[in-house]
Amino acid sequence: MNPIFSLEGKIALITGGGSGIGNAIAKCMIAAGGTVVITGRRETPLQEAVAELGERAHYVVNDVTDLSQLEALVEHIETTIGSIDVLVNNAGINMKKPALEVSDEDFHRIIHTNLSAVFSLTRACAKRMVARQSGSILMISSMAAYYGIDRVVAYGASKSGVEGMVQVLTSEFSKFNVRVNAIAPGFIETAMMKTAMSSDPDRMNKALDRTPMGYFGKPEDIGWAAVYLSSDAAKYVTGVSLPVDGGNSIGF
Ligand code: NAI
Repeated sequence: MNPIFSLEGKIALITGGGSGIGNAIAKCMIAAGGTVVITGRRETPLQEAVAELGERAHYVVNDVTDLSQLEALVEHIETTIGSIDVLVNNAGINMKKPALEVSDEDFHRIIHTNLSAVFSLTRACAKRMVARQSGSILMISSMAAYYGIDRVVAYGASKSGVEGMVQVLTSEFSKFNVRVNAIAPGFIETAMMKTAMSSDPDRMNKALDRTPMGYFGKPEDIGWAAVYLSSDAAKYVTGVSLPVDGGNSIGF
């Protein structure tokens, strides 16, 4: 691999890295020479994931919604493993319900995981990155922030919030050499996508019909984009939201 795309010597914290897209990001980052720390709520899947990822992978059990623990999480990683060069805010949850049936508790739960926790963890990491004048923060957005998808009001609002955060943080952190970007995955084959689609063939066909490439993405497609955006090859790239979607965002 051209060293400009290498992540050798870099440590990435990937939330929700035990499964799906987060796990693929971890795999691709390790293949690019990086060291990863994955987090999640349950120890067993994290242990299994780390066993498969190999010696440059570490895990810490952490629930991102416990905001008061995020500062300690970052402190723990930085003292036991090393400085976090790359933060990937991947952990996320979805809920499919008509807007009129979404309770305040439902709405809050999605926003809390997908937006409030992303901010708190980003602040904890960015504080240190700003002091070191180096770092890359990556958000995982969604097509739900790009166009109207029915029955995901809280999810769409949370991902639109994440897109807004990319812009504001870019305007604040760029002078400290800390980059902030998002990847907006199209429809990617993971447990989350299967849950949303399996009982709803109309939705599945609609998603496929407006994907010009004609097939759903694989988690690795997001993983390689994450490698690029975290590498020195992207050192002048900040404030962008990169669709990795087989053309879905501009599909007819
Ligand atoms: P997934 O359900 O397979 O993975 C989500 C991960 O987040 C899991 O490892 C889960 O344990 C973790 N997680 C959830 N709540 C957590 C919490 N409170 N604390 C710590 N970890 C937590 O789903 P998938 O598809 O891999 O999603 C990953 C990200 O990609 C999410 O942010 C999702 O919104 C986003 N995304 C996925 C798309 C898809 O088509 N699969 C499309 C667009 C965005």
